[in-house]
Amino acid sequence: MILKATQLHKSYLQPGKPDLPVLTGTDFSLDAGETVAITGPSGSGKSTLLALLAGLDRPNNGTICIDGNDITKLDEENLTTFRGKNIGIIFQQFHLMPHLSAAENISLPLEIHKSEKVKQKVEDILQKTGLTDRKDHLPRQLSGGECQRVAIARALVIEPNILLADEPTGNLDAATATIITELLFQLVEEIGMTMVVVTHNPTLTRRCKRSVTLSQGKLV
Ligand SMILES: Nc1ncnc2c1ncn2[C@@H]1O[C@H](COP(=O)(O)OP(=O)(O)O)[C@@H](O)[C@H]1O
Ligand SMILES: [Mg+2]
Repeated sequence: MILKATQLHKSYLQPGKPDLPVLTGTDFSLDAGETVAITGPSGSGKSTLLALLAGLDRPNNGTICIDGNDITKLDEENLTTFRGKNIGIIFQQFHLMPHLSAAENISLPLEIHKSEKVKQKVEDILQKTGLTDRKDHLPRQLSGGECQRVAIARALVIEPNILLADEPTGNLDAATATIITELLFQLVEEIGMTMVVVTHNPTLTRRCKRSVTLSQGKLV
């Protein structure tokens, strides 16, 4: 087992109102090499769960053990280092830096963590994601599908053990969504990653080994 989350509770503060409970005792575990789809209605807490698993946000209660480390116990600095080595994250809205080229966006996680052989790693992932010809373009000069390729390349350039993707085809047309889905699964296999993907896309869900649904704060 590569990840085990136990009894996750997460609520958000609301000014002048009682806290909004989103996750109310969610358990989730992941075997190495698995691909898992998380589905559920809008507002059910899918992005919240992914942010907790990624260590981008912290639960009010519960534990998240990744490779035997409880990431909820790490301080900010150690959590950032852990994330930079182990976890790749892809967002629906791409979250690219608008003033940086494709190649510069992709090299960012390597620069932050002072990796070696940055140029070689970036060139490799540009090639794997079919972006070599687009590497010097800014995000605004790229199509939606190309922006998502850049976001995928940026997540994968660190060769993470775990890839977390939040609606990676949510902003793409159907044909591009199919191409991006194929690319994702091809890379997951090639790099030997474990993937959790939040999605409403039935094709993406079917491609995963397992699918779970978030409902009323718990996974079923
Ligand atoms: N930072 C936040 N502050 C307050 N409420 C939030 C915050 N993030 C999400 N929420 C609320 O938590 C609930 C779950 O949100 P989210 O995890 O984004 O759901 P999903 O990804 O399944 O659509 C929603 O009601 C949303 O409005
Ligand atoms: Mg969401």
